[in-house]
Amino acid sequence: MTEIIDGNAVASQIRDDLTAAIETLADAGARPGLATVLMGDDPASQTYVNMKQRDCEEVGIESHHVDVDGDASPAELYDAIADLNEDPDVHGYIVQAPVPDHVDYREVIRRVDPIKDVDGFHPENVGRLVAGDARFRPCTPHGIQKLLETAGVEPEGKDVTIVGRSDIVGKPLANLLIQKAEDGNATVTVCHSRTDDLGAKTRSADIVVAAVGVPELIDGSMIGEGAVVIDVGVNRVDVSERRSEDSQTASDQSDTEKGYELVGDVEFESAKEKASAITPVPGGVGPMTRAMLLYNTVKAASLQED
Ligand code: GUN
Repeated sequence: MTEIIDGNAVASQIRDDLTAAIETLADAGARPGLATVLMGDDPASQTYVNMKQRDCEEVGIESHHVDVDGDASPAELYDAIADLNEDPDVHGYIVQAPVPDHVDYREVIRRVDPIKDVDGFHPENVGRLVAGDARFRPCTPHGIQKLLETAGVEPEGKDVTIVGRSDIVGKPLANLLIQKAEDGNATVTVCHSRTDDLGAKTRSADIVVAAVGVPELIDGSMIGEGAVVIDVGVNRVDVSERRSEDSQTASDQSDTEKGYELVGDVEFESAKEKASAITPVPGGVGPMTRAMLLYNTVKAASLQED
């Protein structure tokens, strides 16, 4: 039987564990605070930001939110960032991506105080991670490591194929998995849009991580017998474009009512036939990313206490 890795259950356990640490910090007068910054009104980003605020409430982290008009100048966003850097109640914050086209996200990230950079995107934090001295592990790669750990999958000595070379998932995950560490020591191949014979690279892997943003790119024919499959994709697909039999899979009723459903980068049904364990979409990596943001916020608060 293929194990369906339950990201909601693992995330819930992590939130429970964090709640105790949060109360200890609060008793010492330092209740952790997380701020979200949203520039513009992208509906998906709005949903993510709302979920992050709900998560904070559940575990006792104080949440703050800053809206910046989508037409505002970059300077206005920089001012908001400077205020958050100075605010002692905000231990960590994220600037939700994507930002409007007239704003350079790299410059935005450079202005975040690295000690409050709970996304782990600042060059100082990226450098520390690559050097094997991570301060904040980026939330999705860290969440994937936790999922593998709780599923009893040790990366050591395994062939891992990551499909996708993003700064948020592919690159940091590859770096973490090759590190000389208990949750590393894997042999990692990173594939991307110019990779030749992608299927050969995924089929030979013990662990396949799909983080490429192409709906159902990876099907069962590309998965080796008994592999572990981690699907990072969150693709909104118009329900009217999908055959009715398909709309049963990986669909969430509330999303379906909105006219779209979420599908991963993996064709779940065919991949499940081959895999020994697989994450669903939704309910796999997504909730873990959110839980690790809370984890990083607690870590930021602890670091700022010292
Ligand atoms: N947009 C999509 N994923 C992320 C993320 O992990 N952090 C931020 N700040 N924005 C995102």
